[in-house]
Amino acid sequence: MANLSNLFLRTALLFLGTGVAMGIFMSLSQDFTIRPVHGHMNLLGWVGFFLYALFYRHFPHVAATRLPWIHFWTAVIGLPAMMAGLTLVVLGHMSLGLPLLLGGELVTVISVALIIHIGFMATKAEPASPHRENFAPAE
Ligand code: HEM
Repeated sequence: MANLSNLFLRTALLFLGTGVAMGIFMSLSQDFTIRPVHGHMNLLGWVGFFLYALFYRHFPHVAATRLPWIHFWTAVIGLPAMMAGLTLVVLGHMSLGLPLLLGGELVTVISVALIIHIGFMATKAEPASPHRENFAPAE
């Protein structure tokens, strides 16, 4: 089975490339219309997905279950849909942009609800760290 953490990390890198390309485009053209798309792409896409990758690296027993995959697919479908919708909205194409934006937001909110749930479950069921015994009082 594919490694969920690596998948999140690679997706984060693609969002970073896309977000930075938008930043460079804005700087060169001095047209800042897509500024919120750039901001969300970098923060949710790059920073958020990178943190998800680290999270699943840290809790590999959680990554092996099914719910994190639903988290991945909702996150990876939701953000591009939301960004495409937001781009259309800021460019003035409301009739297509608004439903896409709202649909993408809904799917993204589901992904966020999932990671909140998964995060709480993971920390509740965390097995004792093998390093913990190093801190046991000396006998
Ligand atoms: C080479 C890389 C980047 C370039 C060239 C770039 C360029 C820009 C530009 C030109 C703006 C608009 C500034 C303005 O309106 O005065 C901007 C806004 C912003 N950037 Fe970047 N950026 C880069 C990377 C990043 C990264 C890595 C992040 C986050 C992790 C980021 C987050 C933001 C945010 C949050 C805003 C404000 C968005 C808003 O006001 O709606 N940027 N950036």
